[in-house]
Amino acid sequence: MEPSQLSRDSDRDISQEEPLGANPDTAKPRLSYSELVQRIYRRIASIPAPRHVARKTFLRCLGAHIGRGTIIPPCCMPWPHQVWLGKDCRLEPGIYFKFDWYWKTGPNIVIGDRVFIGRNVEFNIQGRIEIGNDCLIASGCVFVDHDHGVRLAERISDQPSQIGQIILGKDVWIGANSVILKNARIDDGAIIGAGSVVTKPIPAKEIWAGNPARKLRDRE
Ligand SMILES: CC(C)(COP(=O)(O)OP(=O)(O)OC[C@H]1O[C@@H](n2cnc3c(N)ncnc32)[C@H](O)[C@@H]1OP(=O)(O)O)[C@@H](O)C(=O)NCCC(=O)NCCS
Repeated sequence: MEPSQLSRDSDRDISQEEPLGANPDTAKPRLSYSELVQRIYRRIASIPAPRHVARKTFLRCLGAHIGRGTIIPPCCMPWPHQVWLGKDCRLEPGIYFKFDWYWKTGPNIVIGDRVFIGRNVEFNIQGRIEIGNDCLIASGCVFVDHDHGVRLAERISDQPSQIGQIILGKDVWIGANSVILKNARIDDGAIIGAGSVVTKPIPAKEIWAGNPARKLRDRE
């Protein structure tokens, strides 16, 4: 800001200005009764129970990064040092952070701030997954970043995996029960319909759905 503009602001006669809220365009909208009750319930629900605090402390001691305001419900996290969770994330019970490998330095499951992850979501990772801020991942989604080898001459379970990254940008919404496979890069603001199978990169701000996922339309 220019210094001259600062002095102009401080010279203003505030007694001549409208009181805050007098202008209906700038006044805060009044909360309805049900909105108020919902807001109170949300506040109460976000108070961490002692067992949540104990779980968070335990996982942090084992190397997980868990941001402020993120509550950890009962979940499965066999390699906590592989998990990096940002601030104010909302997690539902039954999430499986499966780092499917021997001991390896982490973190490789990196989740941003204010991310919602629904019930029974599975991250089945051998390489790396990144989820940007403000993403919504509905219940039952599965992220798998590797395939087994498929040569006929050898047992499938003996063949080395082919691993690819999975990267979600910011503000991405993945519909319920979708499967996101290796090398899926889903850019900012994209939407994936329920029950989709994503096998390739999805451009920003587009809506894709189906098995395999195909473009439905652009977001307006
Ligand atoms: C993808 C989605 C957002 C699109 O909604 P929409 O814009 O209202 O789309 P429409 O219902 O108009 O459908 C448009 C077309 O896409 C198809 N379609 C929509 N969703 C689909 C899906 N999940 N899988 C396959 N096809 C889908 C419709 O059948 C329709 O096809 P048609 O034109 O041949 O009839 C929505 O269908 C969806 O899947 N939402 C996810 C819900 C969810 O998982 N919520 C969890 C809460 S966090």
